[in-house]
Amino acid sequence: SVWTVRTRAVTTMASDQENVGHVKQQLAKLFETSLRATVPEELDVEPLVAACTAKFGDYQCNNAMSLWPRIKGKKTEFRGPPAVGQALMKNLPSSEMVEACSVAGPGFVNVTLSKNWIAKIIQKMLIDGIETWAPRLSIQRVVVDFSSPNIAKEMHVGHLRSTIIGDTLARMLEFSNVEVLRRNHVGDWGTQFGMLIEFLFEKFPDWESASGTAIGDLQAFYKASKQKFDEDPVFKERAQKAVVRLQGGEPRYRSAWAQICDISRREFDGVYQRLEVSLEEKGESFYNPYIPGVLEKLSNLGLVEESEGARVIFVEGYERPVIVVKKDGGYNYASTDLAALWYRLNIEKAEWIIYVTDVGQSEHFQMFFKAAKRAGWLPDDDKAYPRASHVGFGLVLGEDGKRFRTRSTEVVRLADLLDEAKARSKAALVERGKDKEWSEEELDKIAKAVGYGAVKYADLKNNRTTNYTFNFDQMLNDKGNTAVYLLYAHARICSIIRKSGKDIEELKKTGSIALNHPDERALGLHLLQFAETVEEACTNLLPNVLCEYLYNLSENFTKFYSNCQVVGSAEETSRLLLCEATAIVMRKCFHLLGIVPVHKL
Ligand code: ARG
Repeated sequence: SVWTVRTRAVTTMASDQENVGHVKQQLAKLFETSLRATVPEELDVEPLVAACTAKFGDYQCNNAMSLWPRIKGKKTEFRGPPAVGQALMKNLPSSEMVEACSVAGPGFVNVTLSKNWIAKIIQKMLIDGIETWAPRLSIQRVVVDFSSPNIAKEMHVGHLRSTIIGDTLARMLEFSNVEVLRRNHVGDWGTQFGMLIEFLFEKFPDWESASGTAIGDLQAFYKASKQKFDEDPVFKERAQKAVVRLQGGEPRYRSAWAQICDISRREFDGVYQRLEVSLEEKGESFYNPYIPGVLEKLSNLGLVEESEGARVIFVEGYERPVIVVKKDGGYNYASTDLAALWYRLNIEKAEWIIYVTDVGQSEHFQMFFKAAKRAGWLPDDDKAYPRASHVGFGLVLGEDGKRFRTRSTEVVRLADLLDEAKARSKAALVERGKDKEWSEEELDKIAKAVGYGAVKYADLKNNRTTNYTFNFDQMLNDKGNTAVYLLYAHARICSIIRKSGKDIEELKKTGSIALNHPDERALGLHLLQFAETVEEACTNLLPNVLCEYLYNLSENFTKFYSNCQVVGSAEETSRLLLCEATAIVMRKCFHLLGIVPVHKL
């Protein structure tokens, strides 16, 4: 029925939370009224409103075509979809937002927005703030499970992608007034710890007093212990017993484990600090105590079966089951994820749980989501809440088209990678003489913003499922679709406003915007599409949608600026306000993408 569809739509909002800056939603309301008047019997038909791709208008309503087969023969006053379109147009309530309507082709209702209304909404945003343009989602709390590297193993570029993409999704959801639990699901509880701990005891008998300094390079330590594990059967047996002693909670083993985790954590934190990403660690070990109880619940539902000595859950569409207890009685990645999902749904009361990992793990997620559906934890409809989503992403490639590595074929140290991005952007600034213009501190701050921004944007601008090639020269180029180009565009707008010598805060209160030139109107319309773009990017979990919007905004601005004189023109006040609105929206986009905007460059 209408209502189940409605309550499930993530962007449905209470009427008291109206977002006047959300054009699509405002138009949908008008067409909703028109639909009820035109076809009162068809209650479950929702307005289909989209931005126009052709030049017939700004937005279009596409209902006539899909309505036609339903009403054909029943409502004889309509002789075809174009007539339905005509009726939808005629029944559209009058509104200050609409300037003109027309019906085209098979029945599209095209709407041209009033430029005065566009101007008014932008002016209102200048006074009330960009927050008033935030999407409102119908959910309260979300878990974003991202970054999630593994202790003692490499934190690789895949984890960097997860960190960047996850942070952006979290930021968009936070902006949409949803509470976000930013979870770092670190791999801190594998069988590898038995071997690591025994190796620690053997190599560094005084490990306790050395407080973590003994191990030094944890990756080398991991390699050496793995080698011993593979070659020395006596060691191997000791290592396997160590896992049991650790899981049994023996203090010496627990504290060795904690020390190893701390070393990794310090390394991860270096990356998070550079990127200014905040995360709360709840690693695999956290959920371990919940596993037996959760498996018992699943067993009581009759979902857990015995198969080849293991305990498993079969799910539709897969021949292999989800293994929840291994043959040796131990738990695994899936048992932990089931316990974590249970915890997030029932203890943390999250309505949407979002997992950001490489696409290689899709099957794991699809399978355990299905197990959760069988258990009735999640509804069958993938878009309904509570909801679990896997946000998969592709590989980062090197120039050779293979998995990204550094020269030495060793893994890339992420902290080094970020340092290099910053160093390169600094060098480019120095080459342009900025070291003479700015203080050392400013130069450093801007080099960091540009360098890290470039790395993030190069990752986010692609559809996340595609692989992309890591290339410093390309991402740090000041032309093309790069963060550098966009940061320049923003800095230029700031400088236009600065150089006008006008007090922009004063203008916001006293001035007004007029959009008489076509390029002014086009820019204004694009600004108004911010809310629906963020909403699309965050409900479909696609950061590239926001990147594309930002790039087009910059293009629209450039066009406006080359065709409309700002300072010294008769329209100076209006145009300065348009500049300011553009800068505000750009800054919000940067912020949502985790990029620090700079006011000069
Ligand atoms: N530690 C895993 C890895 O490095 C990612 C964990 C993702 N989160 C989860 N709940 N499974 O591949």
